[in-house]
Amino acid sequence: MLIFEHQRISANGRLEIGGCDTAALAAEFGTPLYVMDETAIRNRMRAWHSAFNALYPTGIAYASKAFLTTAMVRIVEQEGLNLDVASGGELYTAVKAGFPADRLVFHGNNKSDDELEMGLRHNVGRLVIDNFHELERLNAFAGARGMKQGVLIRCTPGIDPHTHRLIRTGQEDTKFGFSIKSGDAAEAARRIEASPNLELTGIHCHLGSNLMDATSHLDAVDVMVAFLARLQRDINRTLSELDLGGGLGVRYLPDQRPVSVETFAGSVVPNLIETLDKHGAGRPRLGLEPGRSIVAEAGTTLYTIGAVKEVAIPSAPGKRIYVNIDGGMSDNPRPQLYEARYSAILANRANESPDTQVTIAGKHCETDILISNIDLPLPRPGDILAVQTTGAYNHSMASNYNRLARPAVVLVREGTADLIVRRETLEDIVARDIIPDRLRA
Ligand SMILES: Cc1ncc(COP(=O)(O)O)c(C=O)c1O
Repeated sequence: MLIFEHQRISANGRLEIGGCDTAALAAEFGTPLYVMDETAIRNRMRAWHSAFNALYPTGIAYASKAFLTTAMVRIVEQEGLNLDVASGGELYTAVKAGFPADRLVFHGNNKSDDELEMGLRHNVGRLVIDNFHELERLNAFAGARGMKQGVLIRCTPGIDPHTHRLIRTGQEDTKFGFSIKSGDAAEAARRIEASPNLELTGIHCHLGSNLMDATSHLDAVDVMVAFLARLQRDINRTLSELDLGGGLGVRYLPDQRPVSVETFAGSVVPNLIETLDKHGAGRPRLGLEPGRSIVAEAGTTLYTIGAVKEVAIPSAPGKRIYVNIDGGMSDNPRPQLYEARYSAILANRANESPDTQVTIAGKHCETDILISNIDLPLPRPGDILAVQTTGAYNHSMASNYNRLARPAVVLVREGTADLIVRRETLEDIVARDIIPDRLRA
């Protein structure tokens, strides 16, 4: 069973998050329901900021793709972090919620003209250039506005991190960025230097996601600092930023042990300083972009259990118990995308012994198994299932498959629950549909 530090089981056997009884939350707000613990989010942001800044000047940008709503933007703003956005929609959300544009880092491997113009219009602090096509267009658009835009180069360091193949991005064979090895990254720097409306401030890489320790980041320090030193000699000036992206992993299962943020900082920073000195590369400000590490463990999804079905199977123990929930791959596509595994508890019977092996199934027209073979007290229709570690890449990846309305999000803190995203209605589901006149007859 996985219970986080910010959670507890009350005397009457209910799971509490942020001082709120989760069964009561399910009754008040309905299910499926994403529950986000504000204190856990803030504590994590502070841990990132202080662990690194105690050792080295570091800008922490929260990677908004992990979980973004306007309320979340307010938290990032109040905690003094920067914000990584990777689309017009993420940028719009940030601006709408009053986030200071100079603290935005604008990513994306295929930014449209509209997105580039939007970034310029809002004066984003840093724009991370991914390819030559973007470089030329951005220079032209900035010129037309009489602006000079600060940019970083998204580099491919050629490192293959040990994580699921679909969340690896630092290896050579990737759609992201400019390869250092092929010379493209150096060529991008030359072209930016020759572009009157762009100002190169640094280099960036992102290796992959859910990495359990600092091994890949240490490899990245070697490659990126060596490149930075070469680049600075080439262009005959120092660059002010070295951004190593996000990627630190979290606990999805009780036996998983990702290193703490403090241990991670304690490995990366001394290595960074030593490598910078070895190459005479100066002291660029370090940039990091944690997403999952900040929000994943702060999030729990509550579902209501419906049909419980026992089927015969040929292998031991000869039967499987399917426990069907009122959500599935539309609110959490990660098991289908990455074979992601999750831990869960019965929120309203959390102190009962988990003596029955069951399989949790979604309600979609796919075999959307959320969790295979998990031990729980035998679930009954009407019980509330709490799936842990759903704060990252769940709400942000949700869909309307089977025309299911997307869940609400509540933010809990010290016994108070605030709705920060309302549940979609069936009317929302058809709101953008249009019937052409010729089909009306
Ligand atoms: C450029 C960039 N930065 C940061 C992140 C955040 O990664 P994570 O959530 O693993 O920390 C991602 C994830 O895809 C990314 O592409």
